[in-house]
Amino acid sequence: MRKKFIAGNWKMNTASITGELLAAGIVKGLAGDTRVTVAVCPPFPFLSRIGQAVHGTPVALGAQNCYPKNDGAFTGEVSPTMLVDIGCQYVIVGHSERRQIFKESDAFINEKTHAALKAGLKVILCIGETLDERKANRTEAVLDTQLTGSLANITADLLAKIVIAYEPVWAIGTGLNATPQQAQDAHAFVRQRIGQLCTKAAADALVIQYGGSVKPDNAATLLSQPDVDGALVGGASLKVEDFLGIIRAAR
Ligand code: PGA
Repeated sequence: MRKKFIAGNWKMNTASITGELLAAGIVKGLAGDTRVTVAVCPPFPFLSRIGQAVHGTPVALGAQNCYPKNDGAFTGEVSPTMLVDIGCQYVIVGHSERRQIFKESDAFINEKTHAALKAGLKVILCIGETLDERKANRTEAVLDTQLTGSLANITADLLAKIVIAYEPVWAIGTGLNATPQQAQDAHAFVRQRIGQLCTKAAADALVIQYGGSVKPDNAATLLSQPDVDGALVGGASLKVEDFLGIIRAAR
C-alpha cells in the first residue's frame, strides 16, 4: 500500500510571519496524525524559520528548487547540501513554472535530481503537458520525453527516493483541474513507463501525486483514483483550512 503524500508548494508567496502562522496552523490541525505524509515547501528565505516551526512534528520541510552543485561560484543559487544543512527532506524539481519561465531542460532537471539525491534529499519531480500538447493528443509523448530525460541513469534504489508529480500545465493555478479519469489515465501511463524504464516493483512502490487546482472539494475524487497517491498543492496550500481539508480527503 502506497501512503498518500500531500505537499504544499507555497511558490513565491507568504512573508516570514504569515508563513510561520501557516505552518503552525497546519501542525496544530494535524494534531500528530501521520496517516498521510505531509510536507510544506516555503520560499528559500523562510526555510530555516518554517523548519523550526515544523521541527519534531509530522510535517516535513521541502524546498522548491536547487542548483546541481554543492558549492562554488554560482551567484544566487542554492545547493542541495545547503538544503539538507537547514533541515530540508524534499526538493521540488522540474516544476512547469521553472521549465517555462526559466527554460529548464530535462537534462538540467536530471542533473538536479542526481545532485539532490546524492545530498540525501528526496525529490518531487514534476512533469506535465500544456493545453496545446493535450489538444494535439501528445500528452503521453510529452510525459514520456520528460520522464526519460529527467530520470536518465536513475536506478531502482534511487527511484525509491523520488515522488513524481503529474501536473498538467493547463490545470495549474487556473481553477481547471484534470478530471479524475484524466488524472488516472496519466498516472497509470507514468507507472507503466516507469515499470519499463526501471523495474515493476519500483513502479508499484512509486508515489505519484497529482497537481493542478487541487482544492478540498475536488481532492477526494481525485485521490480515490487507484494510481493517484497524493497531491502537490499550490494555491490551496496557502490557507490552513484548505490544506487541512485536502489532507483529510487523503485519509
Ligand atoms: P495550484 O498549483 O494548486 O495553484 O494549481 C499547483 C502547483 O503548481 O504545484
